[in-house]
Amino acid sequence: MLEGKRVSVIGVGRIGEALVRGLQARGVRAHVRGSVRHPDSLARLAALGIDATLSNVEAVAGCDVVVLAVKPQVMPGVLAELRGHVAPGTLVITVAAGVPAARIEEALGPEVPVVRAMPNTPSVLGDGMTVVARGRHATGEHLALARALFDAVGKTAVLDEGLMNAVTGLSGSGPAYIYLVIESLAEAGVKVGIPRDTSTLLAAQTVLGAARMVLELGKHPALLKDDVTTPAGCTVDGLMELEEGKLRVTLLKAVVKATQRAQSLNP
Ligand SMILES: NC(=O)c1ccc[n+]([C@@H]2O[C@H](COP(=O)([O-])OP(=O)(O)OC[C@H]3O[C@@H](n4cnc5c(N)ncnc54)[C@H](OP(=O)(O)O)[C@@H]3O)[C@@H](O)[C@H]2O)c1
Repeated sequence: MLEGKRVSVIGVGRIGEALVRGLQARGVRAHVRGSVRHPDSLARLAALGIDATLSNVEAVAGCDVVVLAVKPQVMPGVLAELRGHVAPGTLVITVAAGVPAARIEEALGPEVPVVRAMPNTPSVLGDGMTVVARGRHATGEHLALARALFDAVGKTAVLDEGLMNAVTGLSGSGPAYIYLVIESLAEAGVKVGIPRDTSTLLAAQTVLGAARMVLELGKHPALLKDDVTTPAGCTVDGLMELEEGKLRVTLLKAVVKATQRAQSLNP
């Protein structure tokens, strides 16, 4: 869907660059250009092989898709600059945490379709999880176009915008929860005698492998857990410790708390 499209990324930082690299890695022949704030950053964009500018107005001229990838606090200034410069019908995708699609619609006008997206950091490696939500004026086709963009850096799902704080609490913050799990498992490996490097490899690859089993076999995680748990074996003893330590309810509460925090930041 993105072949031949003119895509402009406003704010080619970590997420913007991940998107550009994802499109390039997938061989998508879109015409990508981008804008940044500091003159020093232009060389980074040149190295990425995209047209670069410090002018957001110049960046959006003649574009089919505009990706707003600046920090939320920078967004009001960028929207004020772009007002009247985004052509009607140009799809605007925002990845800024906590900025509602309605705010972009108000700023750019009702003729501009908006899709809001919440990616996460593994997008940098092409293993991201992005949820997209349709703004008031976006059609199914706009949503599909936005999805095609984020499919280049991982998996995508569609939800109502009202669930974006929940998405932030689960897949947005989620990598941090899992790093804690990996760090703890690696430490445990050290405790039982495994060298630290190998222990970290064992922990991280185990998380990756388990995630792939869930995604690729399509089996319920509880059934996969049962497959590893031999009667009177070792795993059941480990699971008992996790249950006693309230791992399930702790993870549940972590997502609830992070969702509430996102809600309080973006009422
Ligand atoms: N990182 C994540 O995991 C993640 C996940 C979900 C959503 N997001 C959202 O993605 C957005 C970007 O986050 P990030 O982590 O990629 O930030 P980042 O690495 O700091 O990148 C921001 C980019 O915006 C550019 N910029 C700043 N002011 C600008 C302006 N006025 N006009 C044009 N460009 C400007 C910066 O240019 P310079 O390079 O010249 O400074 C920088 O390249 C945020 O809104 C965040 O909420 C991020």
